[in-house]
Amino acid sequence: MPEKPVAPEPPGPDAPDAAGTPAAPDRSTVRVLLRLWPYVRPVRGRLFTAAVVAIVASCLSLVIPLVLKWMVDGPVADRDPGGVWLGALYLLLLGVTEAVLFGYRRWLVARPLSGVEARMRADLYGRLQRLPIAFHDRWASGQLLSRGTTDLMLVRMFLAFPLTFLLVNGVTILAGYVLLLAQDWSLGLVLLTPVVPLVIVCSLFEGRYGVVARRAQDQVGDLTTVVEESVLGIRIVKGFGRHRSQARAFRDLSGQLRGTELAKARLLAMIWAVITVVPELAIGAALVLGTIQVADGNLSAGTLVAFLSTALALRWPVESIGFLLAMSQEAATATERYFEVMDADEEPDTPAGTGAASDGPDGVRFEGVSFRYPDAPEGSPPVLDGVDLHIRPGETLALVGGTGSGKTTLTALVPRLHEASGGRILLDGEDIARMERGRLRSLVSVAFEEPTLFSASVGENVLMGTDGTAGEPELRRALGVAQADGFVDRLPEGSGTQVGEQGLSLSGGQRQRLALARAVVGRPRFLVLDDPLSALDVHTEARVEAALREVLRETTALVVAHRPSTVMLADRVALLSEGRITAVGTHQELLRTSEEYAWLMSGEGKDER
Ligand SMILES: Nc1ncnc2c1ncn2[C@@H]1O[C@H](COP(=O)(O)OP(=O)(O)OP(=O)(O)O)[C@@H](O)[C@H]1O
Ligand SMILES: [Mg+2]
Repeated sequence: MPEKPVAPEPPGPDAPDAAGTPAAPDRSTVRVLLRLWPYVRPVRGRLFTAAVVAIVASCLSLVIPLVLKWMVDGPVADRDPGGVWLGALYLLLLGVTEAVLFGYRRWLVARPLSGVEARMRADLYGRLQRLPIAFHDRWASGQLLSRGTTDLMLVRMFLAFPLTFLLVNGVTILAGYVLLLAQDWSLGLVLLTPVVPLVIVCSLFEGRYGVVARRAQDQVGDLTTVVEESVLGIRIVKGFGRHRSQARAFRDLSGQLRGTELAKARLLAMIWAVITVVPELAIGAALVLGTIQVADGNLSAGTLVAFLSTALALRWPVESIGFLLAMSQEAATATERYFEVMDADEEPDTPAGTGAASDGPDGVRFEGVSFRYPDAPEGSPPVLDGVDLHIRPGETLALVGGTGSGKTTLTALVPRLHEASGGRILLDGEDIARMERGRLRSLVSVAFEEPTLFSASVGENVLMGTDGTAGEPELRRALGVAQADGFVDRLPEGSGTQVGEQGLSLSGGQRQRLALARAVVGRPRFLVLDDPLSALDVHTEARVEAALREVLRETTALVVAHRPSTVMLADRVALLSEGRITAVGTHQELLRTSEEYAWLMSGEGKDER
């Protein structure tokens, strides 16, 4: 299987400088995450309510120390057991309420957030369908897959926890500090001292963690690509005994990923240590100072108890900030990766069809068409360089040329799978660049060299070639043209039989015939066939050709041909050589006049010329 390059920006396995920061230096986590707003907007009410509920719940935990203070200075000091029981009951109620509120918050956000995730995923999928072939040529499929799965999960988790809890914890910590300072401002100041170093450490951490998180997510994408390729290419992998080297490639990548995950863990451990130890030291200092004050009689025991338990209640909000920041970073890089795909240029839309068809049918015209692949190496000649060709209405034209001469490329220009870089293509006098894509593609039907089938029934695969109105009669006719009715009827459930992923449960020739049936089922005005019979034995080929002749009579067709037998289907032949059409004529004419054509048709092998 050809190795696809990984996405241009994210570092991949063949970019050993994976340590390079993919994140721009001025990249702001908040700015990146704000891009989620359009998706979050519809559920903002729920999220806001949930945040308020969480704030109330979290602040309830700060009331507990006040009850303790009341108990210590009141009933405990007065040795009043009734009061102690009452206090205990209050504490129990507070605890239960807190738990119920947190549960309620979870319930509030769960459904809307999975809705957000589903919407983002649907948008990504829609986008992937609309992005041009050139984009898919460039991006490894595993990178796209991981963006639609792991990354979106990270985003959802961010919306569920860090988004709310960074706010909740912020408010709780503020409220807690106000309480602490109100109870005893000098002890409160002692607890404020760690704030500055903690803020510095957190911001350092955030930057570093962002880089590593991005690297880990890109590596997940690369790993997905390897898995996908070896599953799809399992026949090659086994046939060539490549399972060891595939396994090694996988192990190397997963080793790299493990390294990155460990780097993440180290960073987390570091921030966790700092965030827990520093406040602990401050609490220790406050305890010593407080005890001295109580001994001197400057402070009531209840106040000290309340003070310390407030400080302890603040421990969790403070400590959790480390991993909340980490999750936010991961969500930010995931968002970045998501929008890298969403921001990619779609196929440019065309102005509404102004170039209306001229005087009746005119067939297909190529006028000075040139094309080069966007990712072709600098300075290489264009694949097509000034192609002029006219396929008359109703005519079948065979396109012949050496392998790699650009035949497939030329055929892909007609349904605009690629955009011609120069010149124009006219269908019945109408410039395809001005046609709406949907209409163009309903006029033109294609069958490619490599027949692609989907995990669906045989019938569904074939009827994909229609606008949805076609039914059983059209299906039978198309299967008949492709000489596929025989084997389809022998399948366990006829045309209702499911073909496996990519149709791999069928033979190459069977797949090719279904692809041909799909191309002809909608009776297209223009038919483009890229070597449609290459995988058939001569007898089947002859039968398909006989049936195909009927179809070709009704349409204007461009048929890429490698073999004389396929050429025989056509009225005329065009020879593609070095990016242009160098000869057009009947088979016999070209055999006489073109040395290259005679050589191509002589069957002495089709080596690269
Ligand atoms: N996606 C791509 N990106 C860059 N170059 C490409 C791409 N696809 C094809 N090419 C190059 O364009 C040239 C023409 O390829 P094309 O597939 O059109 O040849 P072809 O005439 O159909 O060959 P064959 O007879 O083997 O099917 C080749 O040199 C090929 O390397
Ligand atoms: Mg080809």
